[in-house]
Amino acid sequence: MELQKEIIRITSEYFNDHLDYQKLSIASKEYKNLLNGVCGQNMDVENGRNDIDLDNGKALGTFWAALCIDDMIRTRQFIRGINKAIQEKINQQKPLHVLYAGTGPFATLILPFILRYPKEDIKYTLLEINPLSFEILQDVILKLGLKDYNIKLVKEDATKYNIDSENKPDILISETMQNALAKEQQVPIFLNLMNQVNYDSVFIPQKIELSIGLKKEGIPLEENHPKPYEKVRKIFDVSKEEMFPLSTAEKKTNGEILFDKKETIIEGKKLKGFSQLVLMTEIQIYEDEKIGIDESGLTTPIIIKDISDLKDSLSIHTQYKISSHPELEYKIT
Ligand SMILES: C[S@@+](CC[C@H](N)C(=O)[O-])C[C@H]1O[C@@H](n2cnc3c(N)ncnc32)[C@H](O)[C@@H]1O
Repeated sequence: MELQKEIIRITSEYFNDHLDYQKLSIASKEYKNLLNGVCGQNMDVENGRNDIDLDNGKALGTFWAALCIDDMIRTRQFIRGINKAIQEKINQQKPLHVLYAGTGPFATLILPFILRYPKEDIKYTLLEINPLSFEILQDVILKLGLKDYNIKLVKEDATKYNIDSENKPDILISETMQNALAKEQQVPIFLNLMNQVNYDSVFIPQKIELSIGLKKEGIPLEENHPKPYEKVRKIFDVSKEEMFPLSTAEKKTNGEILFDKKETIIEGKKLKGFSQLVLMTEIQIYEDEKIGIDESGLTTPIIIKDISDLKDSLSIHTQYKISSHPELEYKIT
């Protein structure tokens, strides 16, 4: 089928070990145009732009979820990380079971694999909560001629989804995050899934780290320039090692998860030469496939205080909270 061949051709740039921004940009536009063409719907309408507000954070509107493909480094690194995980696991386990929580309308991160592996080698469970994204996803899967593949489409909330204990996934993927893990549901989704699978299952991303950092004074944020950020201390870590079992968190009687409170003190003399206090996000997708600080919208540092004229030491109290607006709460004194 021509469309399938086109997807394989276009997405091959993501697998190229040499990062060529121009070629990646062309591939990214081609991939997006192809998917938009298959979908054939205008998502830039009220229903498509509306996010869905849930108890544990928001689920992006269809239009916004489809746009995620444009964050080129994000898309490249996720596809490469998933590829490494599949290659490592597929020799141990056939069929491999891949669960993808929060597919958006196109299942962007997994389509290249569905087409690259024999039907019988991998089974997929695709979860999406947004009804419009789900409807488009069903249609896209049909139009791409994938109905004979082992793909289960589930319209459910991944923070509450019950995994069948007889059919546990080997690889679990979700990209439901923004920088500093604010607003969206990455943390509650991974917590729910980690509580139901075997320890040797692979989570993608493998690790998401939030840190307190400092931004150097007067250094331009230009490409090819060394990044002007210095990490002070890691304050939150989403990974199997940290959360399996809930070692860094306790559960209140009402089921609410409470993560550790942390206090970070930065001496006044350490602040010299820095202009801003920032929250930094780093992502290890899988093994050496990573998204470094400021390489993607997901890792853009967030300025939390201007410290240009500050001489006294700073104390920063932090705690990650899951709520309808999940975020890393902080108080600076
Ligand atoms: C940031 S978008 C990413 C879309 C696509 N996976 C990609 O990487 O290009 C996140 C998607 O996850 C979905 N989502 C968010 N929270 C969810 C939940 N609790 N259960 C299922 N899907 C969810 C959103 O509706 C949205 O389509």
